Formats: sequence, structure tokens, C-alpha cells
Amino acid sequence: MSCLILLPVALLVASVAAQTSTDCNPLNATCPIDAALGTTYNSTFSASTTELNTDLWNVTAGGEAIQFSDNGAALVISASGDSVTAQSTFYMNFGTVEIIMQAAAGQGIISTFNLLSDDLDEIDLEIMGGNESYVESNWYGHGNTSQFNAKYHACDGPQLKTHNYTINWTKEQLEWIIDGTVARTVPYAASGLYPQTPSMLKFGIWAGGDSSEPNGTIEWAGGLTDWSKGPFTMIVQSIKITDASTNTTSYAYGDQTGDYSSITSVSGESEAYKQLNKQSTVESVAKKWSSLSTGAKIGIASAVGGTLLIAFIGLTTFCIIQRRRGKRERAAADQQWDENTAELMAYRNRMAKGEFAVSSMGHGEKF
Ligand SMILES: *[C@@H]1O[C@H](CO)[C@@H](O)[C@H](O)[C@H]1NC(C)=O
Ligand SMILES: *[C@@H]1O[C@H](CO)[C@@H](O)[C@H](O)[C@H]1NC(C)=O
Ligand SMILES: *[C@@H]1O[C@H](CO)[C@@H](O)[C@H](O)[C@H]1NC(C)=O
Ligand SMILES: *[C@@H]1O[C@H](CO)[C@@H](O)[C@H](O)[C@H]1NC(C)=O
Ligand SMILES: *[C@@H]1O[C@H](CO)[C@@H](O)[C@H](O)[C@H]1NC(C)=O
Ligand SMILES: *[C@@H]1O[C@H](CO)[C@@H](O)[C@H](O)[C@H]1NC(C)=O
Ligand SMILES: *[C@@H]1O[C@H](CO)[C@@H](O)[C@H](O)[C@H]1NC(C)=O
Ligand SMILES: *[C@@H]1O[C@H](CO)[C@@H](O)[C@H](O)[C@H]1NC(C)=O
Ligand SMILES: *[C@@H]1O[C@H](CO)[C@@H](O)[C@H](O)[C@H]1NC(C)=O
Repeated sequence: MSCLILLPVALLVASVAAQTSTDCNPLNATCPIDAALGTTYNSTFSASTTELNTDLWNVTAGGEAIQFSDNGAALVISASGDSVTAQSTFYMNFGTVEIIMQAAAGQGIISTFNLLSDDLDEIDLEIMGGNESYVESNWYGHGNTSQFNAKYHACDGPQLKTHNYTINWTKEQLEWIIDGTVARTVPYAASGLYPQTPSMLKFGIWAGGDSSEPNGTIEWAGGLTDWSKGPFTMIVQSIKITDASTNTTSYAYGDQTGDYSSITSVSGESEAYKQLNKQSTVESVAKKWSSLSTGAKIGIASAVGGTLLIAFIGLTTFCIIQRRRGKRERAAADQQWDENTAELMAYRNRMAKGEFAVSSMGHGEKF
């Protein structure tokens, strides 16, 4: 265990990162419902990842600067004005967020993730690139920037290796857990004094130390950023988000109190749930084919013109493709089609050469 809870340090400049605007504030207006996560999202990024799933993530800045390798998703900034931000298309209504990451090094560079609600309740983890000994936790109620809730927690080299930063958020308390050790606990308090409304997740990298930032922000970020020392890279190895509610499609504000008890939900499979389950549909089709006995495959392959198999693959693949928008899944489905078709052709060729005895097939093989 390399990160330990230690002294909360008194703070002067702490409110610079608060989100101060929202598309529609349910404290003042009747707003659209929030799409729920309603399940667990669990993703480990690798060299075979091609992009953040566009149905689950909206990359609002710097999408072209996300590079995938077996170390994870690298978020890179290299010049004044650069930032990378991804925000979830779904909301969680209490639950846990676990991010395994290596923060970017570099004075004034901030690697961060936040939970943010429509009425501006906010939960943050912020890591200054120039401070190899501490990370910052913070929160806001109703976007009130007069609140000073930031605290610093000793952490051994957040820019030098990956650490497990977990937020555990319930109706009773809010915890920041670093490598398995609870670094901070905030007990429940009334609406406005404790984050308690459905929140989306945002993560990214930006330069609080850019010379264009206000003085207070530069100071908070740990000093001016020297771009000649870039590029600066944050590496996110994995993200796991568990919504406390399951089988939930959406959340809504029942009134304008911003109290958790006013939040209503609709049950059913969320869009995120459907999206996450589609991925396994591709796998299950592939498994279905490869798990068929040789006899069954021959049976299929020998069917007149291969019609049966083409119907079998075609129908399932078509259904998947039809409902899918991400490039990555599309590519996977295309590849699946090619592989299955190639395999069919191989069987048919071998059959044509008489490699399979007729007696080995056609006797009760079912699929
Ligand atoms: C709500 O509206 C009032 C006045 O219309 C405004 O002063 C206040 O800032 C608004 N509050 C929020 C949270 O938007
Ligand atoms: C999360 O994903 C990782 C890697 O894909 C896997 O090893 C792990 O079991 C998953 N955890 C859960 C709870 O699904
Ligand atoms: C993505 O973010 C942009 C900028 O905030 C916004 O205009 C757009 O509506 C968002 N798209 C989705 C699908 O959330
Ligand atoms: C790191 O942060 C801690 C807590 O705010 C502060 O005491 C320390 O001076 C900082 N170190 C550097 C190098 O900025
Ligand atoms: C914002 O927080 C400050 C400090 O806790 C408090 O004095 C003030 O009343 C709050 N403002 C609102 C609008 O709740
Ligand atoms: C989160 O907190 C709840 C309630 O205290 C506890 O039961 C649960 O084990 C915690 N989860 C994690 C990941 O620490
Ligand atoms: C990360 O920390 C949380 C909280 O302690 C823990 O539940 C989880 O298992 C850890 N994840 C990994 C991959 O070790
Ligand atoms: C920024 O802060 C520095 C040191 O705290 C101070 O000398 C300088 O005048 C400030 N600049 C502005 C524009 O406020
Ligand atoms: C999910 O919610 C739907 C709609 O209320 C319900 O019909 C279904 O039985 C629920 N499924 C589970 C697994 O609870």
C-alpha cells in the first residue's frame, strides 16, 4: 500500500474547479430526465481498444488525443489550450467509481475525475502534475463556490505509477479510497451540503497552470505550466462504475429541493445496459458457432447453397449490426462475418474433396 491517508491541509484557493453551469437546473426548472446507468460498467483499456464506446461516452474535448495501448487510455495534451474531457452519457444515483490511473506529470497539469449532477452537486478527485506527494479530494453542493471542501491526501508518486482511486458514494456517507485505504469520509448532510443527486462521470486532463488561466487557478494548480516540457500524459488503465440502482432506465427530479428523497426512477433495462450487453451478443454468436460439433458444422455447410448457415449467421449478425453504431463493434461484427464465412467455405471445400465420410453426419445432429 503506497498511498496513505494523512493530514488534511488548510486551503486558501480551492474552488477554482467547480462546475458553475448546467444545461437545465432542476432546482429552478423542470428538466429532461437523466439516462441511468442502472448496472455496472467495467472497462480495461488495451491496445485493441479503438475508442471510448461512443454510446456511453461523449468526448467533448481532445478526442483525437486519446491513444490506446496495453497500459491503458493515454490522454495527451501538448500545447496551450489543449484539454481532453470525456463525460458519460449515463448517470448514477449513488454507487462506486473506481479508476486505476497514472496521473500526468508536469507543473500546473491537472488529471481529474468528477461526478457531476444537473443541480451541480459535485464530487472530485484532482491530481496536480507537479506534486508527487499529495492528491486532492473536493466536493460541492448545488455548485456553491463559497464552500471550501478540498482536502489533500498523501499519495506516493501519483504520476510515477498507477493507483486505485475509488469513490464510494451512499446516502449515508461519501468516501475517497486510495489503494484500499479510506482517505476521507464525509457524512450525509442536507441537500446543498452533501452531493445527493444523479451524477454523470467526467474524466480528463487540462492545464490549470496555463498562462491564460486566472492567477488563483495557476496557484491552485501548483504553478505555471512550461509547455516545452510536454507532452503531458494521463493514463487511465481501467474504469469501473457501479450504479447503486439496477434495472433502472432513468432518473428524474420529483421537486426542486435537490434532496435525494425527491429523485424518482423508472425501472427497466437502461440504454447503457443494452449497450453493454450487445458486446456479449457478438461473443455469444461466435461461441455458438465454434461450440457446434464438427458434424453440425458439416450439416450446416452441406445444406443447399449453405443457405441455412448464411441465414444463421446473417440473421444474428444483421440484428447486431443494425442496432450498433460504434465503429469498433461494427468492425468486430464485420470480422465475425468474415471469419464465420471463411470457416464455412473451408468446410464446404473439404466436403467437396470428400474428406468427411457421409456416415459422420446427418444422424440426429441438431443445432
Ligand atoms: C434560480 O433562479 C434564481 C432567480 O431566478 C437565481 O437567482 C438563482 O441563481 C437560480 N439558482 C440556480 C441554482 O440556478
Ligand atoms: C472487470 O473487467 C476485468 C477485465 O476485463 C475483469 O477481470 C473483472 O473480472 C471485471 N470485474 C467485474 C466485477 O466485472
Ligand atoms: C456531448 O457533449 C456536447 C457538448 O457538451 C453536447 O452538445 C452534446 O449534446 C453531447 N452529446 C450527448 C450525446 O450527450
Ligand atoms: C503538495 O501539496 C501539499 C498539500 O497541499 C503541499 O503542502 C505541498 O507543498 C505540495 N508540494 C508541491 C511540490 O507543490
Ligand atoms: C454557500 O455556502 C456558503 C458557505 O457554506 C454559505 O454560507 C452560503 O449560504 C451558501 N449559499 C447558498 C446559496 O446556499
Ligand atoms: C461502500 O460503502 C458501503 C457502506 O458503508 C459498504 O458496504 C461497501 O462495502 C463500500 N464499498 C467499497 C467498494 O468500499
Ligand atoms: C480498488 O479499490 C476498491 C476500494 O478499496 C476495491 O473495492 C477494488 O477491488 C480495488 N480494485 C482493484 C482492481 O484492486
Ligand atoms: C498573481 O500572483 C502573484 C503572486 O501571488 C502576484 O505577484 C501577481 O501580481 C498576481 N497577478 C495578478 C494579475 O493578479
Ligand atoms: C426490470 O424492470 C422491468 C420493468 O419494470 C420488469 O418488467 C422486469 O421484471 C425487471 N427485471 C428484473 C430482472 O428485475
